[in-house]
Amino acid sequence: MNDHMQTQEMLEAIENELHRSVADPGESELNQYYSMLAYHLGWEGEGAGPEARGKRIRPLLVLLTCAAAGGNWKDALPAAASVELVHNFSLIHDDIQDNSPLRRGRETVWRRWGIPQAINAGDAMFTLAHLSLLRLEETTSPEITTRAANTLHQACLQLTKGQYLDLAFETKDYLPLNAYWQMVGGKTASLIGACTELGAIVADVSKQRRDSFREFGFNLGLAFQAQDDILGIWGDAALTGKSNESDLIAGKKSLPVIFALDQGGTFAARWAQGKIQAEETKQIASLLENEGAREFSQESASQMTDKALNALTEADPKGQAGEQLISLANRLLSREL
Ligand code: IPE
Ligand code: IPE
Ligand code: MG
Ligand code: MG
Repeated sequence: MNDHMQTQEMLEAIENELHRSVADPGESELNQYYSMLAYHLGWEGEGAGPEARGKRIRPLLVLLTCAAAGGNWKDALPAAASVELVHNFSLIHDDIQDNSPLRRGRETVWRRWGIPQAINAGDAMFTLAHLSLLRLEETTSPEITTRAANTLHQACLQLTKGQYLDLAFETKDYLPLNAYWQMVGGKTASLIGACTELGAIVADVSKQRRDSFREFGFNLGLAFQAQDDILGIWGDAALTGKSNESDLIAGKKSLPVIFALDQGGTFAARWAQGKIQAEETKQIASLLENEGAREFSQESASQMTDKALNALTEADPKGQAGEQLISLANRLLSREL
Protein backbone atom coordinates (compact mmCIF):
# COMPACT_ATOMS: atom_id res chain seq x y z
CA MET A 1 0.00 0.00 0.00
CA ASN A 2 1.49 3.41 -0.89
CA ASP A 3 1.67 6.36 1.52
CA HIS A 4 -1.29 8.13 0.05
CA MET A 5 -3.52 5.05 0.24
CA GLN A 6 -2.52 4.37 3.84
CA THR A 7 -3.27 7.99 4.85
CA GLN A 8 -6.59 7.84 3.01
CA GLU A 9 -7.56 4.65 4.82
CA MET A 10 -6.65 6.22 8.16
CA LEU A 11 -8.61 9.40 7.43
CA GLU A 12 -11.70 7.38 6.55
CA ALA A 13 -11.37 5.31 9.71
CA ILE A 14 -11.00 8.52 11.75
CA GLU A 15 -14.19 9.93 10.24
CA ASN A 16 -16.08 6.70 11.05
CA GLU A 17 -14.80 6.72 14.61
CA LEU A 18 -15.84 10.37 15.02
CA HIS A 19 -19.32 9.46 13.82
CA ARG A 20 -19.42 6.70 16.42
CA SER A 21 -18.47 9.24 19.10
CA VAL A 22 -20.87 11.94 17.98
CA ALA A 23 -23.98 9.95 17.23
CA ASP A 24 -27.22 11.66 16.29
CA PRO A 25 -29.49 11.25 19.37
CA GLY A 26 -32.44 10.90 16.99
CA GLU A 27 -34.76 12.88 19.24
CA SER A 28 -36.48 15.75 17.51
CA GLU A 29 -36.06 18.12 20.49
CA LEU A 30 -32.30 17.62 20.16
CA ASN A 31 -32.00 18.19 16.40
CA GLN A 32 -30.25 21.52 16.81
CA TYR A 33 -28.00 20.19 19.55
CA TYR A 34 -26.66 17.54 17.21
CA SER A 35 -26.56 19.97 14.28
CA MET A 36 -24.19 22.33 16.10
CA LEU A 37 -21.68 19.52 16.63
CA ALA A 38 -22.11 18.09 13.14
CA TYR A 39 -21.85 21.59 11.62
CA HIS A 40 -18.62 22.34 13.43
CA LEU A 41 -17.12 18.99 12.41
CA GLY A 42 -17.91 19.82 8.78
CA TRP A 43 -20.59 17.16 8.26
CA GLU A 44 -23.71 19.29 8.00
CA GLY A 45 -25.00 22.68 6.96
CA GLU A 46 -23.89 25.13 4.31
CA GLY A 47 -20.38 24.45 3.04
CA ALA A 48 -20.13 20.99 4.66
CA GLY A 49 -17.45 18.73 3.19
CA PRO A 50 -13.70 18.03 3.34
CA GLU A 51 -12.68 21.71 3.52
CA ALA A 52 -15.03 22.33 6.43
CA ARG A 53 -13.65 19.37 8.38
CA GLY A 54 -10.15 20.78 8.76
CA LYS A 55 -6.99 18.83 8.28
CA ARG A 56 -7.49 16.12 10.96
CA ILE A 57 -3.76 16.33 11.66
CA ARG A 58 -3.99 15.39 15.33
CA PRO A 59 -5.81 12.06 14.91
CA LEU A 60 -3.52 11.24 11.98
CA LEU A 61 -0.52 11.81 14.24
CA VAL A 62 -1.99 9.42 16.82
CA LEU A 63 -2.43 6.65 14.23
CA LEU A 64 0.88 7.17 12.43
CA THR A 65 2.77 7.25 15.73
CA CYS A 66 1.09 4.07 16.91
CA ALA A 67 2.08 2.29 13.68
CA ALA A 68 5.61 3.74 13.72
CA ALA A 69 6.01 2.55 17.32
CA GLY A 70 5.14 -0.98 16.22
CA GLY A 71 1.46 -1.08 17.24
CA ASN A 72 -1.73 -1.75 15.30
CA TRP A 73 -3.08 1.69 14.36
CA LYS A 74 -6.67 0.46 14.40
CA ASP A 75 -6.37 -0.09 18.16
CA ALA A 76 -5.63 3.63 18.54
CA LEU A 77 -8.81 4.85 16.80
CA PRO A 78 -10.66 5.74 20.04
CA ALA A 79 -7.70 7.91 21.06
CA ALA A 80 -7.54 9.47 17.58
CA ALA A 81 -11.21 10.47 17.74
CA SER A 82 -10.77 11.82 21.25
CA VAL A 83 -7.92 14.22 20.38
CA GLU A 84 -9.84 15.57 17.38
CA LEU A 85 -12.86 16.16 19.61
CA VAL A 86 -10.75 17.95 22.23
CA HIS A 87 -9.26 20.07 19.43
CA ASN A 88 -12.71 20.94 18.08
CA PHE A 89 -14.06 21.70 21.53
CA SER A 90 -11.13 24.11 21.99
CA LEU A 91 -11.85 25.77 18.63
CA ILE A 92 -15.54 26.34 19.42
CA HIS A 93 -14.59 28.04 22.68
CA ASP A 94 -11.53 29.78 21.18
CA ASP A 95 -13.67 31.44 18.50
CA ILE A 96 -15.82 32.93 21.26
CA GLN A 97 -12.76 33.98 23.25
CA ASP A 98 -11.09 35.51 20.17
CA ASN A 99 -14.28 37.01 18.77
CA SER A 100 -13.61 35.18 15.49
CA PRO A 101 -16.38 35.16 12.90
CA LEU A 102 -14.81 32.64 10.51
CA ARG A 103 -13.50 29.08 10.88
CA ARG A 104 -12.61 26.77 7.98
CA GLY A 105 -14.22 29.26 5.64
CA ARG A 106 -17.59 29.16 7.42
CA GLU A 107 -19.41 31.13 10.07
CA THR A 108 -18.33 30.09 13.58
CA VAL A 109 -20.73 28.22 15.87
CA TRP A 110 -21.22 31.23 18.17
CA ARG A 111 -22.06 33.47 15.18
CA ARG A 112 -24.71 31.02 14.05
CA TRP A 113 -26.30 29.93 17.30
CA GLY A 114 -25.17 32.59 19.81
CA ILE A 115 -22.57 32.47 22.57
CA PRO A 116 -24.56 30.56 25.23
CA GLN A 117 -25.35 27.64 22.89
CA ALA A 118 -21.79 27.64 21.53
CA ILE A 119 -20.39 27.27 25.05
CA ASN A 120 -22.71 24.33 25.59
CA ALA A 121 -21.79 22.74 22.25
CA GLY A 122 -18.10 23.02 23.22
CA ASP A 123 -18.83 21.36 26.57
CA ALA A 124 -20.62 18.52 24.78
CA MET A 125 -17.66 18.03 22.43
CA PHE A 126 -15.25 18.00 25.39
CA THR A 127 -17.26 15.34 27.20
CA LEU A 128 -17.61 13.21 24.07
CA ALA A 129 -13.83 13.34 23.71
CA HIS A 130 -13.34 11.72 27.09
CA LEU A 131 -16.05 9.13 26.51
CA SER A 132 -14.45 8.26 23.21
CA LEU A 133 -11.07 7.70 24.83
CA LEU A 134 -12.61 5.17 27.23
CA ARG A 135 -13.39 2.94 24.25
CA LEU A 136 -9.67 2.10 24.35
CA GLU A 137 -10.82 -0.50 26.88
CA GLU A 138 -12.27 -2.41 23.92
CA THR A 139 -9.06 -2.31 21.86
CA THR A 140 -6.32 -2.29 24.54
CA SER A 141 -6.23 -2.96 28.30
CA PRO A 142 -7.49 -1.14 31.43
CA GLU A 143 -3.89 -0.13 32.26
CA ILE A 144 -3.27 1.41 28.86
CA THR A 145 -6.66 3.15 28.95
CA THR A 146 -5.91 4.77 32.32
CA ARG A 147 -2.45 5.86 31.16
CA ALA A 148 -3.97 7.34 28.02
CA ALA A 149 -6.71 9.13 29.98
CA ASN A 150 -4.10 10.67 32.24
CA THR A 151 -2.16 11.95 29.23
CA LEU A 152 -5.26 13.47 27.62
CA HIS A 153 -6.48 15.11 30.84
CA GLN A 154 -3.05 16.64 31.47
CA ALA A 155 -3.03 18.07 27.94
CA CYS A 156 -6.50 19.59 28.45
CA LEU A 157 -5.34 21.26 31.63
CA GLN A 158 -2.24 22.65 29.88
CA LEU A 159 -4.50 23.91 27.11
CA THR A 160 -6.52 26.01 29.55
CA LYS A 161 -3.32 27.46 31.00
CA GLY A 162 -2.15 28.39 27.51
CA GLN A 163 -5.50 29.97 26.65
CA TYR A 164 -5.34 31.91 29.92
CA LEU A 165 -1.92 33.31 28.97
CA ASP A 166 -2.99 34.04 25.38
CA LEU A 167 -5.91 36.13 26.61
CA ALA A 168 -3.99 37.76 29.46
CA PHE A 169 -1.19 38.80 27.06
CA GLU A 170 -3.59 40.78 24.84
CA THR A 171 -3.35 43.72 27.22
CA LYS A 172 0.37 43.53 27.94
CA ASP A 173 2.63 46.14 26.30
CA TYR A 174 5.68 43.95 26.10
CA LEU A 175 6.39 40.24 26.25
CA PRO A 176 9.67 38.31 26.35
CA LEU A 177 10.01 35.45 23.87
CA ASN A 178 10.07 32.77 26.56
CA ALA A 179 6.59 33.85 27.68
CA TYR A 180 5.41 33.33 24.09
CA TRP A 181 6.77 29.76 24.00
CA GLN A 182 5.18 29.03 27.37
CA MET A 183 1.81 30.23 26.09
CA VAL A 184 2.08 28.26 22.84
CA GLY A 185 3.34 25.22 24.70
CA GLY A 186 0.09 25.27 26.62
CA LYS A 187 -2.50 26.24 24.05
CA THR A 188 -1.25 24.19 21.08
CA ALA A 189 1.83 22.02 21.64
CA SER A 190 0.58 20.10 24.68
CA LEU A 191 -2.27 18.54 22.75
CA ILE A 192 -0.07 17.69 19.76
CA GLY A 193 2.47 16.20 22.18
CA ALA A 194 -0.36 14.18 23.72
CA CYS A 195 -1.27 12.89 20.22
CA THR A 196 2.13 11.37 19.58
CA GLU A 197 2.38 10.13 23.17
CA LEU A 198 -1.04 8.46 22.88
CA GLY A 199 0.04 6.61 19.75
CA ALA A 200 3.09 5.33 21.63
CA ILE A 201 0.99 4.42 24.69
CA VAL A 202 -1.34 2.26 22.60
CA ALA A 203 1.70 0.59 20.99
CA ASP A 204 2.87 -0.06 24.57
CA VAL A 205 6.50 0.97 24.11
CA SER A 206 9.02 1.83 26.85
CA LYS A 207 8.67 5.04 28.88
CA GLN A 208 11.79 6.39 27.20
CA ARG A 209 10.40 5.97 23.68
CA ARG A 210 7.03 7.36 24.79
CA ASP A 211 8.79 10.48 26.05
CA SER A 212 10.69 10.89 22.79
CA PHE A 213 7.50 10.54 20.74
CA ARG A 214 5.85 13.16 22.98
CA GLU A 215 8.86 15.49 22.54
CA PHE A 216 8.48 15.10 18.79
CA GLY A 217 4.81 16.10 18.89
CA PHE A 218 5.34 18.91 21.37
CA ASN A 219 8.06 20.61 19.30
CA LEU A 220 6.07 20.05 16.16
CA GLY A 221 3.20 21.82 17.92
CA LEU A 222 5.42 24.82 18.70
CA ALA A 223 6.47 25.01 15.04
CA PHE A 224 2.84 24.59 13.96
CA GLN A 225 1.63 27.53 16.06
CA ALA A 226 4.50 29.77 14.90
CA GLN A 227 3.46 28.95 11.33
CA ASP A 228 -0.19 29.62 12.22
CA ASP A 229 0.82 33.04 13.56
CA ILE A 230 2.55 33.81 10.26
CA LEU A 231 -0.56 32.73 8.33
CA GLY A 232 -2.69 34.82 10.71
CA ILE A 233 -1.02 37.92 9.25
CA TRP A 234 0.24 37.02 5.77
CA GLY A 235 -1.96 34.02 4.94
CA ASP A 236 -4.62 34.07 2.26
CA ALA A 237 -7.98 33.97 4.05
CA ALA A 238 -9.45 32.10 1.06
CA LEU A 239 -6.97 29.28 1.75
CA THR A 240 -6.77 29.32 5.54
CA GLY A 241 -10.51 29.84 6.03
CA LYS A 242 -9.70 32.28 8.85
CA SER A 243 -9.43 36.05 8.99
CA ASN A 244 -5.93 37.47 8.41
CA GLU A 245 -6.82 40.66 10.26
CA SER A 246 -8.36 39.56 13.54
CA ASP A 247 -5.09 38.67 15.35
CA LEU A 248 -3.71 42.17 14.77
CA ILE A 249 -6.99 43.88 15.63
CA ALA A 250 -7.39 41.83 18.83
CA GLY A 251 -3.87 42.79 19.89
CA LYS A 252 -2.70 39.16 19.94
CA LYS A 253 0.92 38.68 20.98
CA SER A 254 1.75 36.51 18.02
CA LEU A 255 5.37 35.67 17.27
CA PRO A 256 5.87 38.34 14.56
CA VAL A 257 4.39 41.01 16.85
CA ILE A 258 6.58 40.07 19.81
CA PHE A 259 9.68 40.15 17.62
CA ALA A 260 8.83 43.57 16.17
CA LEU A 261 7.94 45.04 19.57
CA ASP A 262 11.40 44.03 20.73
CA GLN A 263 12.97 45.81 17.72
CA GLY A 264 11.53 49.11 18.98
CA GLY A 265 11.04 50.47 15.45
CA THR A 266 8.13 52.07 13.60
CA PHE A 267 5.80 49.11 14.28
CA ALA A 268 6.47 49.26 18.03
CA ALA A 269 5.80 53.01 18.02
CA ARG A 270 2.46 52.52 16.23
CA TRP A 271 1.49 49.60 18.54
CA ALA A 272 2.08 51.83 21.59
CA GLN A 273 -0.47 54.32 20.28
CA GLY A 274 -3.43 51.97 20.70
CA LYS A 275 -5.53 49.36 18.92
CA ILE A 276 -4.83 48.51 15.28
CA GLN A 277 -7.84 49.31 13.08
CA ALA A 278 -9.18 47.03 10.35
CA GLU A 279 -8.24 49.44 7.56
CA GLU A 280 -4.60 49.51 8.70
CA THR A 281 -3.91 45.77 8.77
CA LYS A 282 -2.38 45.56 5.25
CA GLN A 283 -0.01 48.40 5.93
CA ILE A 284 0.90 46.99 9.35
CA ALA A 285 1.64 43.61 7.77
CA SER A 286 4.12 45.29 5.36
CA LEU A 287 5.70 47.17 8.21
CA LEU A 288 6.18 43.94 10.16
CA GLU A 289 7.69 42.25 7.13
CA ASN A 290 10.10 45.13 6.48
CA GLU A 291 11.26 44.99 10.09
CA GLY A 292 12.15 41.29 9.68
CA ALA A 293 9.30 39.79 11.73
CA ARG A 294 8.18 37.35 9.04
CA GLU A 295 11.66 36.01 8.41
CA PHE A 296 12.37 35.66 12.12
CA SER A 297 9.13 33.74 12.69
CA GLN A 298 9.79 31.45 9.73
CA GLU A 299 13.28 30.76 11.06
CA SER A 300 11.89 29.98 14.54
CA ALA A 301 9.34 27.56 13.10
CA SER A 302 12.06 25.83 11.17
CA GLN A 303 14.26 25.50 14.28
CA MET A 304 11.37 23.95 16.21
CA THR A 305 10.76 21.50 13.36
CA ASP A 306 14.43 20.47 13.50
CA LYS A 307 14.08 19.88 17.24
CA ALA A 308 10.97 17.81 16.59
CA LEU A 309 12.74 15.70 13.97
CA ASN A 310 15.68 15.09 16.32
CA ALA A 311 13.29 13.81 19.00
CA LEU A 312 11.64 11.61 16.38
CA THR A 313 15.00 10.07 15.52
CA GLU A 314 15.48 9.30 19.23
CA ALA A 315 12.07 7.62 19.27
CA ASP A 316 13.27 5.26 16.54
CA PRO A 317 10.14 5.16 14.35
CA LYS A 318 9.74 2.14 12.06
CA GLY A 319 8.52 1.42 8.57
CA GLN A 320 6.29 3.34 6.22
CA ALA A 321 4.48 5.12 9.07
CA GLY A 322 7.83 6.40 10.36
CA GLU A 323 8.60 7.87 6.92
CA GLN A 324 5.17 9.45 6.82
CA LEU A 325 5.72 11.14 10.20
CA ILE A 326 8.90 12.76 8.85
CA SER A 327 7.21 13.95 5.68
CA LEU A 328 4.17 15.22 7.64
CA ALA A 329 6.47 17.27 9.90
CA ASN A 330 8.17 18.83 6.87
CA ARG A 331 4.89 19.51 5.11
CA LEU A 332 3.39 21.28 8.13
CA LEU A 333 6.14 23.84 7.95
CA SER A 334 5.47 24.70 4.35
CA ARG A 335 1.70 24.55 4.70
CA GLU A 336 -0.43 27.28 3.26
CA LEU A 337 -3.57 26.20 5.08
C1 IPE B 1 -5.88 25.50 14.37
O1 IPE B 1 -5.47 24.18 14.22
C2 IPE B 1 -5.58 25.96 15.74
C3 IPE B 1 -4.15 25.93 16.08
C4 IPE B 1 -3.70 25.27 17.09
C5 IPE B 1 -3.20 26.68 15.30
P1 IPE B 1 -5.55 23.42 12.81
O2 IPE B 1 -4.87 24.25 11.77
O3 IPE B 1 -5.04 22.05 12.99
O4 IPE B 1 -7.10 23.39 12.54
P2 IPE B 1 -7.99 22.50 11.56
O5 IPE B 1 -8.61 21.44 12.43
O6 IPE B 1 -7.14 21.92 10.47
O7 IPE B 1 -9.04 23.43 11.04
C1 IPE C 1 -5.13 27.97 18.89
O1 IPE C 1 -5.53 29.22 19.16
C2 IPE C 1 -5.20 27.09 20.14
C3 IPE C 1 -6.53 26.73 20.61
C4 IPE C 1 -7.62 26.84 19.92
C5 IPE C 1 -6.61 26.16 21.94
P1 IPE C 1 -5.49 30.44 18.12
O2 IPE C 1 -6.55 31.37 18.53
O3 IPE C 1 -4.11 30.94 18.01
O4 IPE C 1 -5.84 29.69 16.74
P2 IPE C 1 -6.76 30.14 15.53
O5 IPE C 1 -5.91 31.02 14.68
O6 IPE C 1 -7.96 30.80 16.09
O7 IPE C 1 -7.08 28.85 14.83
MG1 MG D 1 -6.96 31.95 20.53
MG1 MG E 1 -8.35 31.94 17.68
